[in-house]
Parts: sequence; structure tokens; C-alpha cells
Amino acid sequence: MAVTVVSLGMGIRSAGVVGLGTMGAGIAEVLAMAGLTVTVVEADPDALSRGIAILDGSLRKAVSRGRLTEDEHKEIAGRVHPAPTMAGMADADLVVEVVPEQLPVKRQVIAELDQVLRPEAIIATNTSSLSVTSIAADSAHPGRVVGMHFFNPAPVMRLVEVVTTVLTDPGAARAVTALAGRIGKTPVQVTDRAGFVANALLLPYLNHAVWLLETGYASREDIDLAVTTGIGLPMGPLALLDLIGLDTSLAILEVLEREFGGTRYTPAPLLRRLADAGRTGRKSGRGFYDYGHQETRGAAGSPDQSRPDLAAVSSPGTVTVIGPGAVAGTAGRSAEPHPDRAAELGSLFEAAGISVTSNPAHPTDLGIVAIGPEGGVLGPASAAGRAADAVGLHLPYQNLAEIVPSQLTSAGALAAAVALATRLGLTAVRSADRPGLLAGALLFAHLRDAVAMVADGYATPADVDTAMTLGCGYPRGPMRLLAEAGAGKAADVLSAMHAGYGDPAFAPPPLLREYAIGGLPVQVSGAS
Ligand SMILES: NC(=O)c1ccc[n+]([C@@H]2O[C@H](COP(=O)([O-])OP(=O)(O)OC[C@H]3O[C@@H](n4cnc5c(N)ncnc54)[C@H](O)[C@@H]3O)[C@@H](O)[C@H]2O)c1
Repeated sequence: MAVTVVSLGMGIRSAGVVGLGTMGAGIAEVLAMAGLTVTVVEADPDALSRGIAILDGSLRKAVSRGRLTEDEHKEIAGRVHPAPTMAGMADADLVVEVVPEQLPVKRQVIAELDQVLRPEAIIATNTSSLSVTSIAADSAHPGRVVGMHFFNPAPVMRLVEVVTTVLTDPGAARAVTALAGRIGKTPVQVTDRAGFVANALLLPYLNHAVWLLETGYASREDIDLAVTTGIGLPMGPLALLDLIGLDTSLAILEVLEREFGGTRYTPAPLLRRLADAGRTGRKSGRGFYDYGHQETRGAAGSPDQSRPDLAAVSSPGTVTVIGPGAVAGTAGRSAEPHPDRAAELGSLFEAAGISVTSNPAHPTDLGIVAIGPEGGVLGPASAAGRAADAVGLHLPYQNLAEIVPSQLTSAGALAAAVALATRLGLTAVRSADRPGLLAGALLFAHLRDAVAMVADGYATPADVDTAMTLGCGYPRGPMRLLAEAGAGKAADVLSAMHAGYGDPAFAPPPLLREYAIGGLPVQVSGAS
């Protein structure tokens, strides 16, 4: 039954929040801060007291930081009214349900709200991964059910994904979008698809990192360092999984896998095993990292990232720089000379006081194969007669050295290469010799997902960047990262990954090639 909710528009004055758990308390705070009266209903009295205490504590903190006065604190807290039953929400213009992520629980709440709300009132669901359509379908008024997906912590994160279904009344969507703006959030409006924008992009990338760890491609520390030190994201993917919760992440991936299929969404077995074992991350004290033992932690609450494998060895005094590195786009074929790459490394070493030669017959402490992101160490190292004491080196970012041993590289040569990178002032990470190496494999596959989402018409480039910066704390969104890396380079690395693994999930979408030729959309490359 269609119900006219258009008239509500900016006029939402009173709200309700059902469920005052992790997200509900923050959402109630945000709504009350914006001047709305907020009725809260919570099934568990302890959770209610906890939620009110969290809300009050957050407002107190704002007072101590000078962002609110004592009077404003009282006023805002005074707008939040617990009610024993849903009947207390009868006058609400909009109710946000924030109950656990279980379809029957959500449907039951919607049914109860249908009994008490005016037909033109809006029901918003904060679901992360359930279908908003399924939540709405049984409602007496499915047109008024809209997804309003806040991010954790709700008072801080500025993104709200406004999710419409095929049943949604456009007026309800407009009203929720307008409300999101009024409460200081940036709305991104999308249709009902698993993961919406942010989770659909974040989770496969995190899952990829687990696959890399599980297959021995790189260590947990190196995976996280490649992302933080190299790509510049605030957290490494494994540390981020620990923060989100391995169980929660697994549940979202399962939903994504059901909706989209394909290897990007198939949960890495290690993720499932750790979640099954109760190693769910920070909340249980252990996940990929250990948070439980004071003596193994770095800063309080941060993962132990010491790297015992990188024992101190002295840097080599003499180095043979071995061309050829593989030329971009030649993965799978024999490597061709890339003199620039070798010359660049040679200059870098010389500037650090290291004696450099390119003559393979000349004995030196270490052979360095000047590889590109496609890898390929063994062929050139063997051709130079240095199979055992040569290591691949790739510098994808100013501060990161990808150290790439071949199957025949000795432990001594590997340690010497790490020492060499350290002498150059670089953070060394060790990567398997596979297309993309470490940072590239993670980044370009992630950017590929973003481009594919745009190509699908699900989100605009600007929406993708807004979702990842404001919802996931990225300093720069995927489109911006793509512009910086170069769409052509991304397409080449992805083609090499596609050829190397035979996995269509890495095939560059035609739109990426078009970006490589025609440039990224202006508003993206110009955005900050
Ligand atoms: N936790 C996150 O980081 C996060 C982020 C975005 C969205 N979400 C979504 O928000 C929703 C809630 O997640 P959460 O992490 O806050 O869960 P939570 O378990 O911390 O809180 C849910 C609360 O709902 C209460 N509740 C259960 N049934 C109820 C009922 N019938 N009536 C009233 N209260 C009831 C519970 O007592 C509990 O306090 C889920 O849909 C989740 O997917 C969570």
C-alpha cells in the first residue's frame, strides 16, 4: 500500500531508536544532538542503562573538550526518553531500528512498529548486510521502510548509506536523505544490494589479505605494513579485521558471496577457523594479533607487530643490479630488459655509499633483480648465475621496499636485502614472487572492485570515494588512489594477476581501460 510520506521532508521532529546497543546509543545521541526528541526502546534493561550511560559519557566528553556547554549537555540528554514498549513511539516521525542483525528479529520489530506508528511515519533500518527489501516486505507499509546505514562509531563517522528498495516510497528516501544531512552526516543513496557500497568494497579486500596470509604469500606484519606504510591507509587489513570482528566480517562475506559469488567473496578458510575458534579479534583479546597479554603488546590495545624473522644483518657493501626486470604487460612471457628500473636502483644504492655493478661476472655481496610489480626474479637471477644470492627488489612507494626472494634465494641473501632496504631508509616487506607482489596485489584488486561497482551503475565514482573516506576512514578514496597509481598501470598489473592466477575476479573491467585512455572523471581526480 503506497503511503504519502513526502510531506515529512525536512519536518522530522521526533524520532525513535529501537535497540540501544553498540550502534543504537550513538544513533540516539546523533539524533538528539540535532534537536530531535528521541524515544528509545530496549529489550534488555541492562543494555538500556549501559546505552544511556554511553550516550551521557559521550556528551560529558564533549563538554570537557569545550564542544558543548553544561546546559547544552542537559538539554540534549533531556531529549532522550526511554519507553517501556513500542507504544511510547506512537508519535515518532521516524524510527530507526538498531536491533541485532537477524532477519526474524528485525521483521518482528517492524511488525510491532506497524501496530503503533502513524502510517506516514518512516521506519529506517541500520542493517549492515541483510536485504532491506526482505526486512520491508512483510510490513503493512513497505514503502516507508528505508535503509539508514550508520558507521561505527555513529557520532564520529560521517557517512550514512541511504538504501532504497523497489518498494520504497521516494518521499521516504528523500526525507531520510534530508535528515542525514540535518544531523551532520553525508548521505550516499544506493539501492538494496548486499554490502551497499562500503562493505561490498571493504570486505573482499580484507578477505584477500587473509588469503595472502593463509597461503604463505606474506606475513601478517608485512601485509599490514605494505598497506599502512606503502598505500597509506590508516590500518592494515588484518588489524582492521581484528577491530571489526572476525565473526562479523565472516557473516558479511557470506552474505556477499551468496549475492555475488566468486573468489573475492569466498571467505578464506583461515578467517572461518579463527572465528570458529572464538579468536574474533579485539573483542575476545585475540584474532590475527594478540591483544590479551600486556607483555606482548606494543602501545596499549595495539597489536604486537614485532618481526622476529627480520634478524639484524649488516647491509651488503657491493651489489650487482641485475636487469632485466619484466616490462609492464609482459607477464607470462619472457622478461625483456628494463634498463631504467635497474639504473634507478643503481643510483639509489650508489647514493647510499654502496658499490654497484651490473656485470654479472663481477663478484659482489648480493644480486638485486630490478623487478616491476609483475615480479619474475628466478629467470634473470639464474641467467646472471646468481640464483642463490639474488633477491628481487621493487619500490612501489617512496618509503616501501618489496623484497622478493625466488624459490632458490638463500636465507642469507634475503636477510642482506632487508638490511640493504633498511640502510636506504625504507620499510622492508617480503612478498611472494607473484604478479602484483604485495601492495599491488591488494591495492589493484581493491580498486578493480571499485571500478567494477561504478561500471555496474551501482555507485558513482564520487559516491565510492565518499563511502570509503567517510565510512571507512580512508584518507583518499579508491578513485583518488586509482588516479594516483595510474589506471593504465592498474590495468596492466591486474592483467598480469588475471593471467597468473586464471581468476576472472582480477580481470580489468573495460571501464578501467577506458580510464587509462580517457582519464578518470574530472571531479574525482580533482577531489581532495
Ligand atoms: N556494530 C557495528 O559496528 C555496526 C555498524 C553498522 C551497522 N550495524 C548494524 O546495527 C544493528 C545493531 O548492531 P549492534 O552492533 O548495535 O548490536 P548490539 O547487539 O550491540 O545491540 C542490539 C541491541 O538491540 C537490543 N534488542 C534486541 N531485540 C530487541 C527488541 N525486540 N526491542 C528492543 N531492543 C532489542 C539488544 O538488547 C541489544 O542491546 C545491526 O543490524 C548491525 O548490522 C552494526
